[in-house]
Amino acid sequence: MITQGLEGVIVAQTALSRVDGARGVLIYRGYDIRDLARAVSFEEVAHLFWYGALPTRAQLDALKKQLAQQRTLPDAALNVLRALPPTTAPIDALRTLVSALDAGRPLTPPDLPQAIALTAQTPVLLAAFDRARRGLAPLTPRPDLDHAANYLYLLSGEIPTTAQVRALDTYLVLLADHGLNASTFAARVVASTGSDLYSCAAAALGALKGPLHGGAPSRVLDMIEAIGAEENAETWMRGALARKERLMGFGHRMYKTTDPRAEILRGLARDVCAPAFFALAQRVEETGLRLLHEQRPAERLYTNVEFYSAAVLHAAGLPKDLFTATFAVSRMSGWTAHVLEQVNHNRIIRPDAEYVGPAAQSVIPLDQRA
Ligand code: COA
Repeated sequence: MITQGLEGVIVAQTALSRVDGARGVLIYRGYDIRDLARAVSFEEVAHLFWYGALPTRAQLDALKKQLAQQRTLPDAALNVLRALPPTTAPIDALRTLVSALDAGRPLTPPDLPQAIALTAQTPVLLAAFDRARRGLAPLTPRPDLDHAANYLYLLSGEIPTTAQVRALDTYLVLLADHGLNASTFAARVVASTGSDLYSCAAAALGALKGPLHGGAPSRVLDMIEAIGAEENAETWMRGALARKERLMGFGHRMYKTTDPRAEILRGLARDVCAPAFFALAQRVEETGLRLLHEQRPAERLYTNVEFYSAAVLHAAGLPKDLFTATFAVSRMSGWTAHVLEQVNHNRIIRPDAEYVGPAAQSVIPLDQRA
């Protein structure tokens, strides 16, 4: 008896986050995501994951200092960066550069200082790649800027506005962890073999790239742009469904009601997006929900986190093709915390498969095979 897609199969214990898909609730270490999104920064969430508690002011300052000190890239990563063609997809560049961070080091078990360094370096790598593909030299990270603000600064060379920083920081808080999603599972599988943190992160990045996981938000923006005007939404979306295409930004394995992160991001998008763009996005959302509920009532398809992620990241000033990789700027904190959790309670993850191939066969010598 197999369970397609491992739906509902419990394969690990975690104290990091819990998704209650029936009620539309997401918890990080006991805190409701709605409360966290209102009150804490990305760095506070990272502290919560890595140290088990929200930080005091002194602990937060110490973590911010550590993150800022780790933003320098090693030569191996800079050399690989220069070798990447400018046409490389940013998520592929990030996966390659994360591997390069570890070049020449002996195999060491994942530890907290590495988790902090890797999380600090992820946006630096991404911004350096984005500038390199535009023919620009990387900028020097600013120790006075927090994670979100420094990332935006390293991309543009300009100090971002308060609204841009708030949009990105809230996004980073919301996306930091989500139970045993595909990329986190991939990271934990690699960790369970005794491998290093960089290999875990590279595996997670490979999983995140897929359009069914982290690759959706740029496609949401493509969809909204292709629809172009509110009155086109119904015809466009009916056409896509008739062609058996999936509407990006809807549906989720866990949530059978609205994803709480989508609700928070909708509110944020209302504040930070151009009013005409927000009105169009909202019409697209309403139309998509109506058509999906009309055509697939049994599936209970609702807006997922990716729908308004696209609008918020767009308003924060990020180019569309950086959206998936920017998801990793946030999720690196969750991935690394899961890897450390796996290492602390490890047994190799090695499930079984039902064999459905041919019955016993005899080997025919090579020159006698038809
Ligand atoms: N648009 C249209 N149909 C959808 C849909 C969507 N966004 N999401 C699911 N469905 C349909 C599927 O086609 C499937 O019908 P079928 O069995 O006739 O093919 C049915 O609903 C169940 O889908 P399934 O892929 O089995 O659900 P899942 O729980 O395994 O997958 C997702 C969840 C997220 C992969 C899926 O909803 C999806 O592809 N969404 C669009 C991509 C997206 O937004 N990804 C970001 C996720 S945060």
